[in-house]
Amino acid sequence: MAERLDGGPILDAGCLLVLPGGVDSHCHIEQLQEGGGADEETFTTGSTAALAGGTTSVVTFSTQFKGGGILLPLAEYRRRAAAGAMVDYAFHQIVTDPTDAVLRDELPQAVASGIRSFKAFLTYDPLRLDDRQYLEVLSAARRLGCLVTVHCENYDAIAWRSAALLADGRTVPKYHAWSRPAVVEREATHRAIALAELVDTPIEVFHVSCPEAAEEIARAQARGVKVWGETCPQYFALTAADMDRPGFEGAKFMCSPAPRDAAAQAGLWDAIRMGTLSVISSDHSGWSYGGERGKRSAGPDAPFTAIPNGVPGLQARLPLLWSLGVATGRLTPSDFVRLTATQPAALFGLASKGRIAPGADADLVLWDPHRRTRLTNATQQHAIDYTPYDGMEVTGWPVATLRRGAVVMRDDRVQAAPGSGRYLPVAPYDLIRPRGALPDGFDAATFGAG
Ligand code: URP
Ligand code: ZN
Ligand code: ZN
Repeated sequence: MAERLDGGPILDAGCLLVLPGGVDSHCHIEQLQEGGGADEETFTTGSTAALAGGTTSVVTFSTQFKGGGILLPLAEYRRRAAAGAMVDYAFHQIVTDPTDAVLRDELPQAVASGIRSFKAFLTYDPLRLDDRQYLEVLSAARRLGCLVTVHCENYDAIAWRSAALLADGRTVPKYHAWSRPAVVEREATHRAIALAELVDTPIEVFHVSCPEAAEEIARAQARGVKVWGETCPQYFALTAADMDRPGFEGAKFMCSPAPRDAAAQAGLWDAIRMGTLSVISSDHSGWSYGGERGKRSAGPDAPFTAIPNGVPGLQARLPLLWSLGVATGRLTPSDFVRLTATQPAALFGLASKGRIAPGADADLVLWDPHRRTRLTNATQQHAIDYTPYDGMEVTGWPVATLRRGAVVMRDDRVQAAPGSGRYLPVAPYDLIRPRGALPDGFDAATFGAG
């Protein structure tokens, strides 16, 4: 390290690229669990993985449990983040039970505390909203100036197919993909967009896994609807065939929507090129293979319906995308930065993040575009006991990470104090302003429960 004229340290980037710190706008960290406790990935371990992977800001999830409210879990979640985080963070609010009290009293308070995006699940038993409830969440978001992120899969179609698969004795992990083929995602994506259009609420479709869903987004974008699409590295690095590995190993690759095939991957690259999909997040999900709440918690022969969904990828996100996108010539380095930092920051109102510019925080990554690394779980600094990318060689690696101007990772060593991450309260911002286009000009949202 050389000396600066004012005596401070100089970090010599040499031949490395200087990129804005990554912004992961969809990751599950220390998420509270129904019945007590939280995800195995804590804010401290998750921050370590993020910084080691070149990510300096995250948007994680405060959750509501059906029958409960929003503010109590939010207070606990904020306490945990403030104590443990080493990356800067904002929250999405999961809404599972949009009662009058939640819509009228609690969501406005959550928004006043700096939350400006909600997550609506159209599937998963403990989380799902029916269409009427989804409309209420969209309406509340419209009134409060928020964006709604949506998990798009058809609940009843999955339940119906799963029951038939189990009845036929098809229980092993590979049937997870059979329970939710692309049409199930396409239908829910179409419906999520159509209902958002009815209310005039901007939405982002989370974790798009197939071109069929991307086509629904592209069609809506073409008619001016404010809908954005996100995808994740697992949909490029994994396929449904991974869930068919011997024994129970396939469980390591189970996430929802399910990884598809090479043709779907090609379609997703096209959708990125067209700008239909503009954000790449990790959807990091904190389930180990073993452990009390892990993939094998319902036993080594558990049917696919009893295996927790989700794969870890907070640290691997940027190396995987550089490797599969930039090193193969599919993306330029500028595309990479836009997809993984600039656009997620802009879409979620993180004004000081995702770019290198006067007035922005000096969150930087020194990136070696040529370094080759064979991924194993030992290379991943998360709390999870496996990586689905075990044995994969990636090109591109973060050599140093700076958070607000200070070096917090160098040569894979993270040095930051738990609690040194800052909460990023999100103020109103233009990008998610509704279009002002309502069928018949009638604004039903203003007559809603709130
Ligand atoms: O399988 C997944 N994606 N698990 C995480 C939760 C979610 O749906 O985002
Ligand atoms: Zn989801
Ligand atoms: Zn998720």
